[in-house]
Amino acid sequence: MEASRIAQSIGFTLDRFIKNNQDQFQYASGELSQLLRDIALASKVVNREVNKAGLIDIMGPLGSQNMAGDDQQKLDVLADIRFTRALKKGGEVCALISEESESYEDLNNNGKYVIAIDPLDGSSNIDVNVSIGTIFSIYRRISKVGSPIQQEDILQKGSEQVAAGYILYGSSTMMVYTTGHGVNGFTFEQSLGEFFLSHPDMQMPDNGKIYSINEGQSNSFSESVKKYVQDCKDKKMTARYIGSLVADFHRNLLKGGIYIYPSTAKDPEGKLRLMYECNALAFISEQAGGMATDGKTRILDIQPTALHQRVPFFVGSKKMVELAQSF
Ligand code: AHG
Ligand code: MN
Ligand code: MN
Repeated sequence: MEASRIAQSIGFTLDRFIKNNQDQFQYASGELSQLLRDIALASKVVNREVNKAGLIDIMGPLGSQNMAGDDQQKLDVLADIRFTRALKKGGEVCALISEESESYEDLNNNGKYVIAIDPLDGSSNIDVNVSIGTIFSIYRRISKVGSPIQQEDILQKGSEQVAAGYILYGSSTMMVYTTGHGVNGFTFEQSLGEFFLSHPDMQMPDNGKIYSINEGQSNSFSESVKKYVQDCKDKKMTARYIGSLVADFHRNLLKGGIYIYPSTAKDPEGKLRLMYECNALAFISEQAGGMATDGKTRILDIQPTALHQRVPFFVGSKKMVELAQSF
């Protein structure tokens, strides 16, 4: 009995879970499954490198900036290389949109999928041993397989995502993803080198006590955001802000809460990027019973007009996002 209980707790590997659920996809040809496996493999390589930060020369700034004007860290670039290589080798992806590149990259014209990725989220936390992550969104291409990539393949609304997820390099490493049939979380078991299903069918509490916002910027918040934050204080809620979107989102997903990055004087459109930060987390939050808006419009309904477009972002427990929006 004891032996079978222990054996049971090892549970499902990510690979087996992907395979067993493959027929849930509208186009069950196995390519999306392979793509998810490629991402998981690249994340294991990045995880290994993240764990070595401090031991080898991968911490600190690279001395360059990405398209959005953020200072690039060595790990930003390293993670970008790891994911790009894995996706190129896999062959399922025709175009890759990355935070670290100005334009999209053509990978394989015969690939059926477009992927948008923030290879390393929370860069400012790398050097101080605080949780960081990777965020990805996957779309079906619209143009014919084999033909050159079109603008319409690249700039798709979040509602067109066929899968999205994130990897959190935290006190343990987790991959959380959805293919539009609920959200499942997998924890990486270092010694076996495998992700195991640890959080089946994740649900975001309808309401919560945590609000996550960079209050240092509060002088330049709009009156309505200021009022909402004051309301959180009046209700004696708990402020928690890590500064890694993935980590802040993950905590709020498990415990119930709201994450806000509003427009500020420095970033009038907000700081976060629609295509490779907000859309994925919006899809996951909705699949887990939560909600995501830019303060007015559902994130997944926003038609992107540029690869690196920014949007104000309100995401989390449904009742909290509704209340914030009502302000
Ligand atoms: P990235 O490291 O990919 O550029 O993202 C950083 C983002 C996000 O992870 C985080 O929530 C936010 O920036 C924090 O911004 P502030 O320091 O302005 O609060
Ligand atoms: Mn980011
Ligand atoms: Mn990043």
